[in-house]
Amino acid sequence: MSSSPQHLALLLLFFLPTLTHSLCRNFCGNMPVKYPFGIDDGCGAPQFSKMLNCSTDLFFQTPSGTYKVQSIDYDKKTMVIYDPSMSTCSILQPHHDFVMSDVQYAIIPPSPDTVFALLNCSIDSPVLNHYKSLCFNFSGHSCDELYGSCTAFRLFHLLSNSTPPCCFTGYNTVKYMSMNILDCSHYTSVYGIDGLKGVGPLDWLYGIKLSYSVPDTGCDLCAKSGGTCGFDVETQGMVCICSNTLNSTRACAAGSVAGFTGESHALSPLIQTFVLLLVVVYCLIPNGYVVCL
Ligand SMILES: *[C@@H]1O[C@H](CO)[C@@H](O)[C@H](O)[C@H]1NC(C)=O
Ligand SMILES: *[C@@H]1O[C@H](CO)[C@@H](O)[C@H](O)[C@H]1NC(C)=O
Ligand SMILES: *[C@@H]1O[C@H](CO)[C@@H](O)[C@H](O)[C@H]1NC(C)=O
Ligand SMILES: *[C@@H]1O[C@H](CO)[C@@H](O)[C@H](O)[C@H]1NC(C)=O
Repeated sequence: MSSSPQHLALLLLFFLPTLTHSLCRNFCGNMPVKYPFGIDDGCGAPQFSKMLNCSTDLFFQTPSGTYKVQSIDYDKKTMVIYDPSMSTCSILQPHHDFVMSDVQYAIIPPSPDTVFALLNCSIDSPVLNHYKSLCFNFSGHSCDELYGSCTAFRLFHLLSNSTPPCCFTGYNTVKYMSMNILDCSHYTSVYGIDGLKGVGPLDWLYGIKLSYSVPDTGCDLCAKSGGTCGFDVETQGMVCICSNTLNSTRACAAGSVAGFTGESHALSPLIQTFVLLLVVVYCLIPNGYVVCL
């Protein structure tokens, strides 16, 4: 079997495009991943790049850790995440600050219907003194109710033989003051508070609801043409990913599948087929021997 460099080159030319790129994954487990989010490099909107990680499940990454994504509502533009190290009604865990990056805070901040409950605060806590106004009345719920009905928080009652102060507040308080400064030993967060009037802490939804905004970069046009919105990892400019081998700047126009894109080294399926034919014909010609490979 002989194989000349030209033959190999031709074969490589054919196989390279299929080896180099796979499309953006649009599921992580059974969780749909759509614009503006992306798991793979260059997928989704650049602002949201590297925020999600799909290992076993979908995770949202912030400077303070990795939080499991419980759900994403693409119509309401919300995402619910869960801090596995957070205390809830049924489990007491050492506190751990929830910190977002500035970019995250700007484009995917906690929604207004997410409440942080600071628990077992010392009487010197700023939220009981100078910053009292940061605590609000959360649908008429009280610390006593939390300490009374949650197995996890009953401990605060038992150990102090009193009702240590607590504070229901918004994310901004937690953002500007760490738990150490707040001087509260634990926290929990609850979302969907609009429906929690008269509902006991056992039935609250624990987690953090984030509310995101989608940058308007013309993704609709791309998506309507059958493409997936992504971006160039170097320039951060929008890219409409039409197939494994074809990107466009705006949309996947009908017929564009057969053309080259500006910077693309990859070949369109039509040209690939043509090259394959050439290779087959070329390899079989000399005396009927297969000379390639
Ligand atoms: C993704 O999240 C998992 C789960 O927390 C973590 O172990 C892993 O290191 C993360 N991977 C990357 C690339 O950040
Ligand atoms: C409650 O807070 C006090 C400090 O104010 C701390 O000593 C105590 O350990 C906390 N209780 C629990 C159960 O962590
Ligand atoms: C919170 O509101 C309830 C009624 O919704 C009221 O009974 C209670 O006194 C209020 N608590 C505070 C601390 O303002
Ligand atoms: C298309 O764009 C994506 C995202 O930037 C990139 O990963 C991929 O290599 C590009 N594909 C081609 C064929 O240029």
